Amino acid sequence: MDLHLTGRVAVVTGASKGIGLAITRSLAAEGVHVVAGAMHGSPELDVLADQKDVHPVLVDLTTPEGPALLIDEAVGRFDTIDILVNNVGAVRPRLDGFLAVTDQDWDWAMTINFFAAVRTMRAALPHLATRAGASIVTVSSVNAYLPDPPVIDYSAAKAALTNLCKSLSKEYGTRVRVNTISPGPVQTDLWLGGDGVAATVARANGTTAVAVAQQAAADAATGRFTHPQEVADLVLFLASDRADNITGSDFRIDGGLVTTL
Ligand SMILES: NC(=O)c1ccc[n+]([C@@H]2O[C@H](COP(=O)([O-])OP(=O)(O)OC[C@H]3O[C@@H](n4cnc5c(N)ncnc54)[C@H](OP(=O)(O)O)[C@@H]3O)[C@@H](O)[C@H]2O)c1
Repeated sequence: MDLHLTGRVAVVTGASKGIGLAITRSLAAEGVHVVAGAMHGSPELDVLADQKDVHPVLVDLTTPEGPALLIDEAVGRFDTIDILVNNVGAVRPRLDGFLAVTDQDWDWAMTINFFAAVRTMRAALPHLATRAGASIVTVSSVNAYLPDPPVIDYSAAKAALTNLCKSLSKEYGTRVRVNTISPGPVQTDLWLGGDGVAATVARANGTTAVAVAQQAAADAATGRFTHPQEVADLVLFLASDRADNITGSDFRIDGGLVTTL
C-alpha cells in the first residue's frame, strides 16, 4: 500500500528509543523528512540520522519552552510541518497508594504525559493548519480508560491527553486530522528496562521482572506484548492520506487486554 508520505515533514517526540524510534525509522523509510525530538538521544537515532533524512533535536520537552524550541527547529529547517507525532511520555509506578502520591509526583506525570503535548500542539498547529492533509497522531495508553491504581497519575494524565485530542479534532475539523493510539504493554524500556514497570514492581513484590512481564503478557488475549513496530505501522497509516476521513478516533493496540467493547 502506497502511503503517499514521501516528501512530507514530520516531528516526532520521544524519538530516541522504543516506540518513537520505531516511528521515526518507519517515517524515514517512507521518504519523510523527520525532526526527532528527545532528551538525551541514542546511538540508534544517530545511526538513523547518518543514513536517512532524520534530524535529532535534543531538548527537554518537560520545560515550558522545550516543545516550542523543537517546533521552531523543524519550521526553521523545512518551513513547514505536515505530521506531528506526540509520542513522549513516561510512567513511574506508585506502589504505596494514592495517599503517597505527592503534588510533585502529579506535576511530573501531568507535565511529561499531558503538558508536553499541549505545548507541542500549540506550537505546531498554526503550521499544520496551513497544509493540506495535515495530521496529528498522539500515543496515549489503554490506561486512559483503564484506570489502574499503581499508575494512578499516568492513567489520569493519559485520560486528559485522549480527551484533549478529541476536542482538537472538533476544533480543527477538515484542516488537521487528530487521532490517538492506545497501546497496552509494548516491548520497550518503559516496561522492560532496568527502571521499567516490570523491574520496579518486581522489586516491591519480591519477585522477578520476568515474572511480572509474563503476567502482563498473559493478561492479553494474544498472550504477548505489542512490538514497537506494530505501533509505528498504525501511526504511519493514520498520518497518511489513506486515513483521510479518520479524525477524532482512538485506536487500541493491546492484544485484547481490554475485555470490554
Ligand atoms: N511501552 C509501553 O508499554 C507503552 C504502553 C502504552 C503507551 N505507551 C506510551 O508510548 C510512548 C512511548 O513510550 P516508550 O515505551 O517508547 O518509552 P521509552 O522507551 O521509555 O522512550 C521514551 C522516549 O521519550 C524521550 N523522553 C523522555 N523524557 C523526555 C524529556 N523530558 N524530553 C524529551 N524527550 C524525553 C526519551 O528520550 P531520551 O532517552 O533521549 O531521554 C525516549 O526517546 C509514551 O507516551 C508512553 O506513555 C507506552
